[in-house]
Amino acid sequence: MSKQQNENLEKAFAGVADNYRGQDVDLNAIYREMRKNSPIIAEDFMSQQGVPNIAGLDANRLTFTLFKHKDVMAVLRDAKNFTSGFIAEGLGAFFDGLILTGMDGEEHKKARALLQPVFMPDVVNTWRDTKMDPIVRNEFLIPLQKEGKADLMDFALYFPIRLIYSLIGFPEDDHDKVKQVAAWSLAILAGPQVTPEKAAEARKAAMEAAKCLYDAVKEAVVEARKNGAKGGDLISRLIRAEYEGRQLDDHEITTFVRSLLPAAGETTTRTFGSLMTLLLERPALLERVRADRSLVGKAIDEAVRLEPVATFKVRQAAQDLEIRGMQIPKGAMVQCIVASANRDEEVFEDSEEYIIERKVKPSFGFGFGPHMCIGQFIAKTEMVVALNAILDLFPNIRLDPDMPKPKIEGAQLRGPHEVHVVWDQH
Ligand code: HEM
Repeated sequence: MSKQQNENLEKAFAGVADNYRGQDVDLNAIYREMRKNSPIIAEDFMSQQGVPNIAGLDANRLTFTLFKHKDVMAVLRDAKNFTSGFIAEGLGAFFDGLILTGMDGEEHKKARALLQPVFMPDVVNTWRDTKMDPIVRNEFLIPLQKEGKADLMDFALYFPIRLIYSLIGFPEDDHDKVKQVAAWSLAILAGPQVTPEKAAEARKAAMEAAKCLYDAVKEAVVEARKNGAKGGDLISRLIRAEYEGRQLDDHEITTFVRSLLPAAGETTTRTFGSLMTLLLERPALLERVRADRSLVGKAIDEAVRLEPVATFKVRQAAQDLEIRGMQIPKGAMVQCIVASANRDEEVFEDSEEYIIERKVKPSFGFGFGPHMCIGQFIAKTEMVVALNAILDLFPNIRLDPDMPKPKIEGAQLRGPHEVHVVWDQH
């Protein structure tokens, strides 16, 4: 990869991080207080934190914010009364075609039924051994071993996009294309912005990136169909997928696959960064996980609970409704603060602690209900592979004492910006 491409990728990532940082306040202290005294407010909490409205909505639309586990669960599971179609108004401007996250009702249900089998563990596990594990080890971590130190975010920024690129079925030998695809994906996420000047500029870049990505994916779809779509890659599987006699056309596959790139990249990057931070801050726990790899999956689930990367989810009231005695008029927005619900002391004992062997209960880091993350097995498997490989290849990995400690921060798209580590060399 060229230096220029590297810089582009890092710039794109910094743009996204800037965009969603919000103010530097102790949000967890605020959430604690809200859960106790104001579990629902008739205000747009995230806008007050300086987080741009990803749905591109007019900022004055009536918004309610929820902080409790029970209420967040009730809203996310009830897609009939709390709809997602409005998301297409904002993100939809960058896309057309098959975008699950902004679909509702029967249309969403049928699309999920068609797509879901491609994302189930039986398929994902075939990718783990043939693609994920070899790529993570051979392309990233083995070449790094001799360095003895690294900022793990350099790895975390790149490996999820590299893996999804490979699963999609893009040509494996074109390394420049991998970088280019990653930079385009991040440019799309930097689309919605707070200030009008930034918004115009970022929007233009996002539209261009979306167009370039479309062309790149379409080419791969056409090629796969021409060759009979027999492969085990995502595109070939989507070409073969069928539900109630319906199959997807090239445009639908292209727009869906394109939507996966931003959905799969940054989310996994930040989640992995938070996971590593939580473990490295607890060397004894990290050692336990190294010795007993059955704990790897638990460490990931608990990181997703305690530090969900997508800190809130918004829905729209489909009719007049009531939550905790407050009237929610039809059309109002309901902002569910996942980062607060996941730490609700009424549901989780020692809710603000990182306890990997806690009793499993639903939390919302991958969403909940009909829109729950379709890529969660991919994301989790990628992180299982990456953490195992790090534990195998970097003996005695620990935080670099000469560098700043990692800090998990941000009001939305939360995670650390740097995770500096050192390890022993043979
Ligand atoms: C750690 C990584 C990830 C996190 C934390 C995450 C989080 C989420 C969340 C919270 C939602 C729910 C959105 C809503 O309720 O409106 C979601 C939906 C979705 N995610 Fe993920 N995601 C991750 C990785 C992935 C990956 C790897 C893929 C694809 C390969 C993916 C594809 C999707 C898609 C397509 C949806 C929309 C589902 C629907 O609306 O029916 N995500 N994700």
